[in-house]
Amino acid sequence: MGQVIINGAELIGTGKSVWLDKDLDAAIKRMVRLSKTQEITERERLHVEALDLFAKGSLPKACSLWEEILLYQPTDLLALKMSHDTYYYLGHQQQLRDSIARVLPCWTPQIPLYGYLKGMYSFGLVETNFYDLALKVAKEGLALNPGDAWSTHTLAHVYEMRADVDTGLKYLKQTENNWMGSDMLSCHIYWHWALYYIEKGEYEAALTLYDAHISRSCFESGTMLDIVDACSMLFRLQMEGINVDDHWKKLVRVTKSHAKDHILIYNDVHTLMSLLGAKDTDTANQIITSLQEVSQTPGENYQYQLGRDLGLPICRAITEFANGNYSCAVDLLNPIRYQIQNIGGSNAQRDLFNLLLIHAALKSDSTAHQKLARCLLLEREAFKPNSPMTERLIRKATALHNVD
Ligand SMILES: [Fe+2]
Repeated sequence: MGQVIINGAELIGTGKSVWLDKDLDAAIKRMVRLSKTQEITERERLHVEALDLFAKGSLPKACSLWEEILLYQPTDLLALKMSHDTYYYLGHQQQLRDSIARVLPCWTPQIPLYGYLKGMYSFGLVETNFYDLALKVAKEGLALNPGDAWSTHTLAHVYEMRADVDTGLKYLKQTENNWMGSDMLSCHIYWHWALYYIEKGEYEAALTLYDAHISRSCFESGTMLDIVDACSMLFRLQMEGINVDDHWKKLVRVTKSHAKDHILIYNDVHTLMSLLGAKDTDTANQIITSLQEVSQTPGENYQYQLGRDLGLPICRAITEFANGNYSCAVDLLNPIRYQIQNIGGSNAQRDLFNLLLIHAALKSDSTAHQKLARCLLLEREAFKPNSPMTERLIRKATALHNVD
């Protein structure tokens, strides 16, 4: 189980894979081999099998095995956490919520790490738009453990989804000492903090946070979670009209080596943004070519399967947008907008693609696209009222001469 835990921790960060890292490949094979020669329990066997499937890219099947463990062992925190993070990578929002809900009554506050279930459950709740309940459950988690960064993260999401930016800013500032030491999550929470500034149109403040925390963390840790947040932040600022060319040139030093990873489509598309931002078109083209190749590979790798129908159109849309072909970007992105959830991440993270479509439609010469931009903004306003960013974009759309 020690090997399951250490290999699981390596894999769940999505920066390494068995086909890119020989040591990790050998470690997974050793774990599987040992499981067959040693006397182990059925639960341990399922853990090994689930991780082996995850390593092969068969993420939904890995989740089924962790769920099988939880049927009999609802307090198996490893199965719970691995499946929770994998549901996040799969964009399976209801499963994020329900997988915790169905075991929570079996736990008591005396069981070690009980409080962390509140953080996980609350995140599933916010991702399925139960904002009030998410707030309540996250606050219960924080009452048990103020250092529970996942519960803090849920609160950051609720304030984001409600465009309640001033409360979000105040809350993260007040509690910074509680979560800044959480090495896997602190960069992401700073990303949420900077997102509030973008919402308010305070771009300098967002860039200051980017430089002080997001970029710094990204270079220090080199983890994919930090890298994708850095790419996402710069891309959003760029869409808002801010020149971040120098920042892209610096960031590409850590992203370039991931151009052929294809561990998660979500990571690939963010890596592409950085390469295009840094004007490294050769490597940007390589991402698309190699994604094309792996997406034709037969087998059970779920991300490769997503590559053809989702990964490639998103990559092409980002490229067309970067090249100023806004109409093409709209035509590529609009038909798949409701499927983009399948590349994983949270609603707040994937909002980048909603914004990309809106910006592309606003910049397109086509009257139909400009009308589409208006419709998308009305939809956005209905789902997330009182958003200063939406108001700014609506003003922009209203000023377009092509639209009545
Ligand atoms: Fe988040």
